[in-house]
Amino acid sequence: MNYRHRYHAGNFADVAKHALLVALVRALQRKPRGALLLDTHAGSGSYELAQASRGDSLEREPEHPGGIGRVWAADGLPGAIAEYVRLVREFDASVPGASSATCRRYPGSPWLFKLLARPQDRLALCELHPEEALALCGEFSGARSVSVHEMDGYAAPRAMLPPPERRGLILIDPPYEAQDEGERVATALSEGLERFPSGLYALWYPLTARAGSGVFLERIRAACAQPALAAEICIDPRSEGLRGCGLVIVNPPWKFEGEAAEILGCLERLLARSGGASSSVSWLVPEKA
Ligand SMILES: C[S@@+](CC[C@H](N)C(=O)[O-])C[C@H]1O[C@@H](n2cnc3c(N)ncnc32)[C@H](O)[C@@H]1O
Repeated sequence: MNYRHRYHAGNFADVAKHALLVALVRALQRKPRGALLLDTHAGSGSYELAQASRGDSLEREPEHPGGIGRVWAADGLPGAIAEYVRLVREFDASVPGASSATCRRYPGSPWLFKLLARPQDRLALCELHPEEALALCGEFSGARSVSVHEMDGYAAPRAMLPPPERRGLILIDPPYEAQDEGERVATALSEGLERFPSGLYALWYPLTARAGSGVFLERIRAACAQPALAAEICIDPRSEGLRGCGLVIVNPPWKFEGEAAEILGCLERLLARSGGASSSVSWLVPEKA
C-alpha cells in the first residue's frame, strides 16, 4: 500500500468525483428518512495542499492547481458544482489565517459527507492504511453519528449492509494499485447488492492510456442487475498518465443522467488540459421500461 491520497487531493479527478457525490447525497436527501453514507476507502479525511508537492523524497508537481484551483473562483457554476465549491470554501475557511484567494485545506469525501449530513444521517468510514486511519480517527473524534473503521473496505459491504435505515450511499474509491482491484470492486458491489439491492452505489475508476475502462465496466455490468450509469470525463486524451476518470452509479436517482451530464459538461470546459477534452453519461445497465 504505497498510495497516499495527499499527493492527489483536489486534483481534477477529486473535483469531478466530489461534485457528483454532492449531487448524489442531495438526491438521497430528498426523502426525510435518514441514510447511511458508507465510504469504503476513505483516505485521511482532509489534506493540507501545501504538502501535496512535498514527496517523501522528491519534489512533486502539485495536482490541485489543475483541479480545485480552476473551479475555486469560477462564476456561473451549475447547482451541484456551486454547492461543492461552497462546501470546500467553507471547510478551507476553518484554517487559521485562511485567505479566500486559493484553497489551502481540501476536504476529502469523509468531510464532504459530514458537511452534507443531516442530523438523521450516519457516516461509516473505512481505511486500511494505519497512518491514514489514525489521521481519520483524529479528524472525527467525538463527531456525532460518525464511525471510523481501520479495516479492509472491500469487506465493508459484507459487514455493514443492509443498513438499518434501509437507505444509503456506498462510495467505493480504491487506489487501483493492485492488478486485481477492478475485480475486487465488482465483488464488493455484488456482495453489497445481494444484501442491499436498493442501495445507491458510486464506484470511481481511472481512465488511463495503459488500461481502458472496458474490462472494468464489463465486470461491473456482469455483477449488476440494477440500472447503472457510467459518467466519464476526459481532460487530456493525449496524456500518458491519468487522462480522465469515471463514476459508475448504480440505482441512480431519478433523472440523474441529465444532472450528471450538466456537471461533467461544465467541468470538462473548466478542467480541460488539451484540445479534445470530453465527457459522457451513458447507461451501463439500462433502466427497465
Ligand atoms: C483514492 S483514496 C480515497 C480518497 C477519498 N475517498 C476521497 O475522495 O477523499 C484511496 C484510499 O484507500 C486506502 N486503501 C487502500 N486499500 C484499501 C483497502 N483494502 N481498504 C480500505 N482502504 C484502502 C488508501 O490508503 C487510500 O487512502
